[in-house]
Parts: sequence; C-alpha cells; structure tokens
Amino acid sequence: MSDYSSHRRKALDAFRHHALDEVDSTNQACLQLARSGDPGLIWITAERQTGGRGRRGRPWSSDRGNLYASLLLIEPAPLEHVASLPLAVALAVHDAIRAVLPLDAPPLEIKWPNDVLIGRAKTSGILLESERTPDGRQAIVIGIGINIVAKPSDTPYATACLSQHGAAVDPSQLFAHLFATMAEALALWDQGRGISKIIDRWRQHACGIGEKITVNLPDRSISGIFSGIDDKGLLLLDRGSLGTMPIAAGDVFFEPDGPRKE
Ligand code: BTN
Repeated sequence: MSDYSSHRRKALDAFRHHALDEVDSTNQACLQLARSGDPGLIWITAERQTGGRGRRGRPWSSDRGNLYASLLLIEPAPLEHVASLPLAVALAVHDAIRAVLPLDAPPLEIKWPNDVLIGRAKTSGILLESERTPDGRQAIVIGIGINIVAKPSDTPYATACLSQHGAAVDPSQLFAHLFATMAEALALWDQGRGISKIIDRWRQHACGIGEKITVNLPDRSISGIFSGIDDKGLLLLDRGSLGTMPIAAGDVFFEPDGPRKE
C-alpha cells in the first residue's frame, strides 16, 4: 500500500458506523450517545426516521429511500473555530453527491452556508446541533439528509432528488461516499486551522455570488447583493449606500423567486 493510501485508510479507520433500520432522529441518537460518554467520531444512519428534524424546528420528511446520517464529534475544535464547520460539512456533502451525479445533470452548487442544490433546487439539508455533555465536553452532531428517491413538496423553496437527475444509487452506496468525503473535509478543516483552504474550495461551488438575494433573519428580511463570504465564512451582503453587512446565520433566497410565504 502506498503512503497515501495507508494514511487515507487510517483516517477512515478513525470513524465508526452504527446502521439502524428505524429511529426517531439520527441526530437525537448521536446526542444520546454523547450524553452516555461516547468519545465521538461515530456515524449513525437509519433507513427511516420517525421524528426527523430540520432547521428552525421544522420536521424533515424521512421515508425509506433517502439518506439520513449523523456524525457525532466531541470537542472538534476551539469554540471560535466551530462556526466554520458548516462550510466543511457542505463540501463533504457536495463531493459525495458529485461522485454519483451524472456530469450532464444541472449545476451542483452550495447555497450559503450549507444547502446543496441541483439546478438551484435543494437536494440535501444539514442540521448541526450541539450541547455540553454531563461531564463538560462539547458535543456537536452533524445531521445530513440527502434526497435520493423522494423530495418534499410542502417547502418554501424548490426541491430536487438525485434519481430525477439520473443518479442510480441507494442510501448505503451514497453513505459510503459521504463517509470518505467527510473524513477528507474534516482533515482539510483541521479543527478550524484549515479554514482558508475550505473557503477556497467552497467558493468554487458557491451558488449566486454577485446576485441579488434576500436573507431571512429571525426577526426580519433584508436584501442586497451577495458579494461573497469573508475569511471566517460569514455571508457578505452588499447593501449599497448602507455598506456591506456580514451575516452569521439566516436563510438565503435568490431572485427572481424571492422568499415564498411560509
Ligand atoms: C434542514 O432543515 O435543511 C436540515 C435537515 C437535516 C435533516 C437530517 S436527516 C439526518 C439528521 N437527523 C435529523 O433528525 N435531522 C438530520
């Protein structure tokens, strides 16, 4: 075995995987492991979730056929670096989908911070949850849902699934790609030290830089030109005479569709 492949093998060997048939939420299952003292670097996947969770307290529709996976990390980085983790996760998901999506499919892009889109329609969602364990460690769960054979229709944004674009893959095959691409992205991220490399790669796949966008913040919506992301991964919204506003969290909508009423 070459040095490269043995190094890669060791990096992959650091991760464990627990495959379930059904669970309420793979994120919840990872949080329970963290509370019971698990050292982290464990994936939980399920064929189906009965209580899949999305961002902002929304449910995540979780019938059989799509991918539901969560990775538990314990003390993954100093707190100030954790904010850049979603960008590394988005790259991993992008790369896993790239590996199975035919090259003639519509563009595969990342919407800030971490939705992966095919032809501007959401194909995957990522939910990071964190909590302090009873023994004082920071647990972070990276939850990933990827639409393979089904896509929800009751969403305020367009949705897509892999099969409609000719990707013939099942959840376990797609997970094998994600397992590898996440190990690579986390190694590049290097506990936040590699953020500039992650951001360089993220920008290559970014959707909508230079376009007019609306960002839904918890208390209001603001519009401007998406001028890029800064070196910490914050979205930069050019508001003309009001200046450029860095945004740490919010839902982005591209024109001309704009945000639909929820
Ligand atoms: C979003 O709203 O965009 C995020 C959706 C995240 C869904 C995934 S499915 C696997 C994991 N378990 C959950 O309960 N949620 C995440």
